[in-house]
Amino acid sequence: MECSIIANKNFSKGTVDPRLFSSFVEQLGRAVYGGVYEPGHPLADSDGFRTDVMDLVKALSVPLVRFPGGNYVSNHTWEDSVGPVDERPVRLDLAWSTLDPNLFGIKEFISWTKKVGTEPMMAVNLGTRGIEAARNLVEYCNFPKGSTLSDLRRSHGSQDPYDIKMWCLGNEMDGPWQVGHKSAGEYGSLAAEVGKALKLFDPTLELVVCGSSNAEMPTFPQWEETVLEQSYEVVDYLSLHCYYRNDENDFLTFLASSVGMDAFIEGVVHVCDCVKAKKRSKKTIYLSFDEWNVWFHSKGKDRQQPKWIIGPQLLEDIYTFEDALVVGTLLNSLMRHCDRVKVACLAQLVNTIAPIMTETGGPAWRQTIYWPFYYASKYGRGEILDLRFSSNSYECKQYGTVPYADPLMVYHPENGELDLFLVNRSPLETLTVNLDLSGFGEHVEVLEHIVLNHDNLKAVNDKEHPDEVYPQVLEGESLFSTDGNLWKGKVLPASWNLFRFTTTCLNRE
Ligand code: AHR
Repeated sequence: MECSIIANKNFSKGTVDPRLFSSFVEQLGRAVYGGVYEPGHPLADSDGFRTDVMDLVKALSVPLVRFPGGNYVSNHTWEDSVGPVDERPVRLDLAWSTLDPNLFGIKEFISWTKKVGTEPMMAVNLGTRGIEAARNLVEYCNFPKGSTLSDLRRSHGSQDPYDIKMWCLGNEMDGPWQVGHKSAGEYGSLAAEVGKALKLFDPTLELVVCGSSNAEMPTFPQWEETVLEQSYEVVDYLSLHCYYRNDENDFLTFLASSVGMDAFIEGVVHVCDCVKAKKRSKKTIYLSFDEWNVWFHSKGKDRQQPKWIIGPQLLEDIYTFEDALVVGTLLNSLMRHCDRVKVACLAQLVNTIAPIMTETGGPAWRQTIYWPFYYASKYGRGEILDLRFSSNSYECKQYGTVPYADPLMVYHPENGELDLFLVNRSPLETLTVNLDLSGFGEHVEVLEHIVLNHDNLKAVNDKEHPDEVYPQVLEGESLFSTDGNLWKGKVLPASWNLFRFTTTCLNRE
């Protein structure tokens, strides 16, 4: 099994927007109660935030965290989640059949984002509510002082505005499961009017309009076209959501999920640009892939969860090693489309379909999928190279011809570093990598090789074995043999790899 890659610093696909490594905390299951927030936990701080969870979040360097939903937002009354905590009402969340105590509201979320060093990305309810509630929420959050709602915020203890820049105009409004589900025409016209009101308040706000809940929706891509025809000039981003699954236990098809993600992104780009052409617009719509992950393990268990309690164990997928490989390829796909995908949120962050798991009252640990996300966030912030590449491939019913190798290269002109993310999709065969780096001058060296590998595809990290799937860092030059700048290396079957090189090329001249 072989692949050949030619990389040249002068051929770039674009620079990654750091917001590609964002995440999502929904008022769902134990994401908040028992995850982010657990007063009484031995490691909780004075705000009730779990410091062990905060440390794991900080290490991921997520630039944005989306909140408060998700499906939750479509029946959410934001006024319930502000003000003195002991006066806040307990509500029924119809999206997840859960009791919502409103103890962790907007002020608490903002304090938490500051402590973990991230920025909020808020969603407004366009399911049961509309322009007035959205306008009021933005005024409450962002107006400095001297208006009724900004002064209300100040009376609630937040003197400074929260200054939330990114706003999602509802969530998955194409989905029949959504409280307040709408047709594309209804939603497009509402989103355009809400967007107009928010931009009248502050034209620098960045607005995300809902695209389809996934590419299999019967209304995709007509939904995107209709919605954009109405809202094009007022919005900045169109959302994409997609979750990948392995119900059939078919490794090769599952590992090809990123080919589906590539096609989804490229299809949505075409629709955006078609509407742009129809409107003779100068403006380009960018993409916010604000929900993506593997999600299927917990579906059966969720049906047995008790309803109308606080913090039920919902969507608690326990991720396997093979899920981590898929997440690695999905990250490659997002980075490869950095010219149009500016924001992406791994859904979600803690406990619910998350890279971080906790036991209520107990420890926190990293799931397998934590690792590819950690390294992509750390080393993926650079220029994505437009590779010339060939590889042995396989045929798969769902996705067609799929290369066994999935490479992505990031060049960092500021220090000359070059990173190769590479997944070997073959479960059985070692992959020989032929890498032509002649476009990088003579002084190229391998810094390190980080590998995520396990002999059991179904291996998981759990409370007892939190580091069962753990990256190994291999140092030294034995990894690649070199003939000038033609490098030859090997990667293990079913492995995620990061090769880091140093070069003396400090710019693209
Ligand atoms: O992330 C879990 C759920 O998936 C979100 O609430 C919803 O937007 C999507 O269907």
